[in-house]
Amino acid sequence: MSDFVIAIDGPSGTGKSTVARKVAASLGAGYLDTGAMYRIVTLAVLNAGIDPYDDDAVAGLLATLAFVSPTDPDAQQHLLDGADVGGAIRTAEVTSAVSPVSANPAVRAWLKGRQQELAAAGRMVVEGRDIGTVITPDATLKIYLTADERVRALRRHTDTAARTAGDVETVRASLALRDAHDTNRAHAPLMAAADAVVLDSTDLEISQTVEAVLTLAAERGIR
Ligand code: DC
Repeated sequence: MSDFVIAIDGPSGTGKSTVARKVAASLGAGYLDTGAMYRIVTLAVLNAGIDPYDDDAVAGLLATLAFVSPTDPDAQQHLLDGADVGGAIRTAEVTSAVSPVSANPAVRAWLKGRQQELAAAGRMVVEGRDIGTVITPDATLKIYLTADERVRALRRHTDTAARTAGDVETVRASLALRDAHDTNRAHAPLMAAADAVVLDSTDLEISQTVEAVLTLAAERGIR
Protein backbone atom coordinates (compact mmCIF):
# COMPACT_ATOMS: atom_id res chain seq x y z
CA MET A 1 0.00 0.00 0.00
CA SER A 2 1.54 3.34 -0.99
CA ASP A 3 -0.38 5.71 1.28
CA PHE A 4 -1.57 4.85 4.77
CA VAL A 5 -1.96 6.25 8.26
CA ILE A 6 -1.36 4.15 11.35
CA ALA A 7 -2.89 5.90 14.37
CA ILE A 8 -1.47 4.89 17.74
CA ASP A 9 -3.24 6.22 20.84
CA GLY A 10 -3.07 5.40 24.52
CA PRO A 11 -2.11 6.70 27.96
CA SER A 12 1.39 7.70 29.10
CA GLY A 13 4.12 5.14 29.63
CA THR A 14 2.85 2.41 27.31
CA GLY A 15 5.93 2.69 25.12
CA LYS A 16 3.76 4.36 22.48
CA SER A 17 6.41 6.78 21.19
CA THR A 18 9.16 4.18 20.92
CA VAL A 19 6.82 1.67 19.29
CA ALA A 20 5.42 4.24 16.83
CA ARG A 21 8.90 5.43 15.85
CA LYS A 22 10.18 1.88 15.30
CA VAL A 23 7.10 0.90 13.31
CA ALA A 24 7.58 3.98 11.10
CA ALA A 25 11.29 3.28 10.60
CA SER A 26 10.57 -0.33 9.73
CA LEU A 27 7.97 0.67 7.11
CA GLY A 28 10.05 3.55 5.73
CA ALA A 29 7.21 5.85 6.81
CA GLY A 30 7.01 9.22 8.55
CA TYR A 31 6.39 9.52 12.29
CA LEU A 32 4.49 12.30 14.04
CA ASP A 33 4.66 12.71 17.83
CA THR A 34 1.61 14.89 18.56
CA GLY A 35 2.35 14.90 22.31
CA ALA A 36 5.56 16.78 21.51
CA MET A 37 3.44 19.46 19.77
CA TYR A 38 1.36 19.98 22.93
CA ARG A 39 4.59 20.08 24.90
CA ILE A 40 6.10 22.76 22.63
CA VAL A 41 3.03 24.97 23.01
CA THR A 42 3.23 24.42 26.78
CA LEU A 43 6.92 25.36 26.85
CA ALA A 44 6.17 28.56 24.93
CA VAL A 45 3.35 29.35 27.39
CA LEU A 46 5.68 28.92 30.37
CA ASN A 47 8.49 30.89 28.66
CA ALA A 48 6.05 33.76 28.08
CA GLY A 49 5.08 33.76 31.77
CA ILE A 50 1.45 32.91 30.90
CA ASP A 51 -0.72 30.96 33.34
CA PRO A 52 -1.37 27.59 31.57
CA TYR A 53 -4.94 27.68 32.97
CA ASP A 54 -5.65 31.09 31.38
CA ASP A 55 -7.34 29.79 28.19
CA ASP A 56 -7.66 33.19 26.53
CA ALA A 57 -4.05 34.21 27.13
CA VAL A 58 -2.82 30.81 25.90
CA ALA A 59 -5.04 31.10 22.79
CA GLY A 60 -3.62 34.57 22.15
CA LEU A 61 -0.09 33.21 22.05
CA LEU A 62 -0.78 30.68 19.28
CA ALA A 63 -0.48 33.08 16.35
CA THR A 64 3.03 34.08 17.47
CA LEU A 65 4.39 30.53 17.68
CA ALA A 66 7.01 29.34 15.21
CA PHE A 67 7.89 25.70 15.62
CA VAL A 68 8.93 22.77 13.50
CA SER A 69 7.59 19.25 14.07
CA PRO A 70 9.87 16.58 12.61
CA THR A 71 8.45 13.56 10.76
CA ASP A 72 11.66 11.59 10.22
CA PRO A 73 11.59 8.71 12.74
CA ASP A 74 15.40 8.69 12.83
CA ALA A 75 15.88 12.44 13.26
CA GLN A 76 13.49 13.93 15.80
CA GLN A 77 14.60 17.52 16.25
CA HIS A 78 11.95 19.80 17.78
CA LEU A 79 12.56 23.50 17.14
CA LEU A 80 10.85 26.44 18.83
CA ASP A 81 11.83 29.83 17.40
CA GLY A 82 14.79 28.10 15.79
CA ALA A 83 16.13 26.61 19.05
CA ASP A 84 16.35 22.86 19.75
CA VAL A 85 13.87 22.20 22.58
CA GLY A 86 14.01 18.38 22.57
CA GLY A 87 15.14 18.33 26.21
CA ALA A 88 13.20 21.35 27.43
CA ILE A 89 9.82 19.89 26.42
CA ARG A 90 10.34 16.80 28.63
CA THR A 91 10.98 18.56 31.95
CA ALA A 92 8.70 18.02 34.97
CA GLU A 93 7.52 21.67 34.67
CA VAL A 94 6.27 21.14 31.12
CA THR A 95 4.83 17.72 31.97
CA SER A 96 2.74 19.16 34.79
CA ALA A 97 1.53 22.17 32.76
CA VAL A 98 0.68 20.22 29.59
CA SER A 99 -2.73 18.99 30.84
CA PRO A 100 -4.46 22.40 31.05
CA VAL A 101 -2.83 23.52 27.78
CA SER A 102 -3.97 20.38 25.95
CA ALA A 103 -7.49 20.74 27.37
CA ASN A 104 -7.73 24.23 25.80
CA PRO A 105 -10.08 23.96 22.77
CA ALA A 106 -8.27 26.74 20.88
CA VAL A 107 -4.96 24.89 21.21
CA ARG A 108 -6.56 21.62 20.08
CA ALA A 109 -8.22 23.24 17.07
CA TRP A 110 -4.99 24.93 16.05
CA LEU A 111 -2.84 21.81 16.37
CA LYS A 112 -5.49 19.67 14.70
CA GLY A 113 -5.00 21.56 11.42
CA ARG A 114 -1.23 21.12 11.51
CA GLN A 115 -1.50 17.45 12.46
CA GLN A 116 -3.99 16.68 9.69
CA GLU A 117 -1.78 18.47 7.17
CA LEU A 118 1.28 16.43 8.20
CA ALA A 119 -0.71 13.17 8.31
CA ALA A 120 -2.03 13.85 4.79
CA ALA A 121 1.50 13.47 3.42
CA GLY A 122 0.75 9.72 3.34
CA ARG A 123 2.75 6.78 4.74
CA MET A 124 2.55 8.13 8.27
CA VAL A 125 2.53 6.72 11.77
CA VAL A 126 0.84 9.27 14.02
CA GLU A 127 0.91 8.94 17.77
CA GLY A 128 -1.13 10.70 20.49
CA ARG A 129 -4.40 10.56 22.45
CA ASP A 130 -7.08 11.46 19.86
CA ILE A 131 -5.54 10.38 16.56
CA GLY A 132 -7.94 7.53 15.76
CA THR A 133 -10.96 9.40 17.11
CA VAL A 134 -10.46 13.01 15.90
CA ILE A 135 -7.34 13.66 13.81
CA THR A 136 -7.43 10.77 11.32
CA PRO A 137 -10.75 8.97 11.83
CA ASP A 138 -10.17 7.24 8.46
CA ALA A 139 -6.77 5.82 9.46
CA THR A 140 -5.86 2.55 7.76
CA LEU A 141 -5.03 0.98 11.12
CA LYS A 142 -5.87 2.22 14.61
CA ILE A 143 -4.06 0.87 17.65
CA TYR A 144 -4.97 1.65 21.25
CA LEU A 145 -1.93 0.75 23.32
CA THR A 146 -2.43 0.08 27.03
CA ALA A 147 -0.47 -1.41 29.95
CA ASP A 148 -1.02 -1.76 33.69
CA GLU A 149 -0.50 1.51 35.52
CA ARG A 150 2.32 0.12 37.70
CA VAL A 151 4.24 -1.14 34.66
CA ARG A 152 3.75 2.18 32.90
CA ALA A 153 5.05 4.06 35.94
CA LEU A 154 8.11 1.80 36.12
CA ARG A 155 8.85 2.39 32.43
CA ARG A 156 8.40 6.16 32.77
CA HIS A 157 10.61 6.18 35.86
CA THR A 158 13.38 4.34 33.99
CA ASP A 159 13.02 6.76 31.05
CA THR A 160 13.16 9.90 33.16
CA ALA A 161 15.48 8.79 35.99
CA ALA A 162 18.40 10.67 34.48
CA ARG A 163 16.44 13.92 34.40
CA THR A 164 14.20 13.84 37.48
CA ALA A 165 14.64 12.87 41.10
CA GLY A 166 11.12 11.44 41.59
CA ASP A 167 10.70 7.87 42.86
CA VAL A 168 8.40 5.35 41.16
CA GLU A 169 5.42 6.23 43.37
CA THR A 170 5.78 9.94 42.52
CA VAL A 171 5.96 9.08 38.82
CA ARG A 172 2.92 6.83 39.21
CA ALA A 173 0.89 9.56 40.91
CA SER A 174 1.78 12.14 38.26
CA LEU A 175 0.98 9.68 35.46
CA ALA A 176 -2.38 8.78 37.01
CA LEU A 177 -3.24 12.47 37.36
CA ARG A 178 -2.33 13.21 33.73
CA ASP A 179 -4.31 10.19 32.50
CA ALA A 180 -7.32 11.36 34.52
CA HIS A 181 -7.06 14.85 32.97
CA ASP A 182 -6.63 13.41 29.46
CA THR A 183 -9.55 11.00 29.89
CA ASN A 184 -12.01 13.39 31.52
CA ARG A 185 -11.49 16.57 29.50
CA ALA A 186 -14.40 17.85 27.43
CA HIS A 187 -12.55 18.13 24.09
CA ALA A 188 -11.07 15.09 22.36
CA PRO A 189 -10.57 13.00 25.50
CA LEU A 190 -8.27 10.00 25.54
CA MET A 191 -10.26 6.97 24.42
CA ALA A 192 -10.05 4.05 22.05
CA ALA A 193 -11.80 4.54 18.71
CA ALA A 194 -14.63 2.05 18.21
CA ASP A 195 -12.63 0.39 15.42
CA ALA A 196 -9.23 0.44 17.18
CA VAL A 197 -7.33 -2.75 17.98
CA VAL A 198 -6.58 -2.71 21.72
CA LEU A 199 -3.06 -3.93 22.39
CA ASP A 200 -1.97 -4.57 25.99
CA SER A 201 1.80 -4.20 26.30
CA THR A 202 2.04 -5.06 30.03
CA ASP A 203 3.89 -8.33 29.37
CA LEU A 204 5.46 -7.41 26.05
CA GLU A 205 8.96 -6.17 25.24
CA ILE A 206 9.09 -3.16 22.92
CA SER A 207 10.23 -5.41 20.06
CA GLN A 208 7.24 -7.72 20.59
CA THR A 209 4.83 -4.77 20.57
CA VAL A 210 6.43 -3.48 17.35
CA GLU A 211 6.05 -6.95 15.81
CA ALA A 212 2.39 -7.08 16.85
CA VAL A 213 1.69 -3.71 15.20
CA LEU A 214 3.58 -4.69 12.03
CA THR A 215 1.56 -7.93 11.82
CA LEU A 216 -1.72 -6.01 12.12
CA ALA A 217 -0.44 -3.54 9.51
CA ALA A 218 0.47 -6.33 7.09
CA GLU A 219 -3.02 -7.80 7.51
CA ARG A 220 -4.32 -4.49 6.18
CA GLY A 221 -1.98 -4.46 3.23
CA ILE A 222 0.51 -2.02 4.78
CA ARG A 223 4.10 -2.91 4.02
O1 DC B 1 2.53 11.74 24.75
P1 DC B 1 3.00 12.84 25.71
O2 DC B 1 3.12 12.38 27.13
O3 DC B 1 4.24 13.52 25.25
O4 DC B 1 1.83 13.92 25.66
C1 DC B 1 1.85 15.07 26.44
C2 DC B 1 0.44 15.53 26.75
O5 DC B 1 -0.17 16.04 25.58
C3 DC B 1 -0.51 14.47 27.29
O6 DC B 1 -0.64 14.56 28.70
C4 DC B 1 -1.83 14.78 26.68
C5 DC B 1 -1.54 15.71 25.54
N1 DC B 1 -1.86 15.14 24.25
C6 DC B 1 -3.14 15.30 23.79
O7 DC B 1 -3.96 15.86 24.50
N2 DC B 1 -3.47 14.87 22.54
C7 DC B 1 -2.57 14.25 21.77
N3 DC B 1 -2.92 13.84 20.55
C8 DC B 1 -1.26 14.04 22.24
C9 DC B 1 -0.93 14.49 23.50
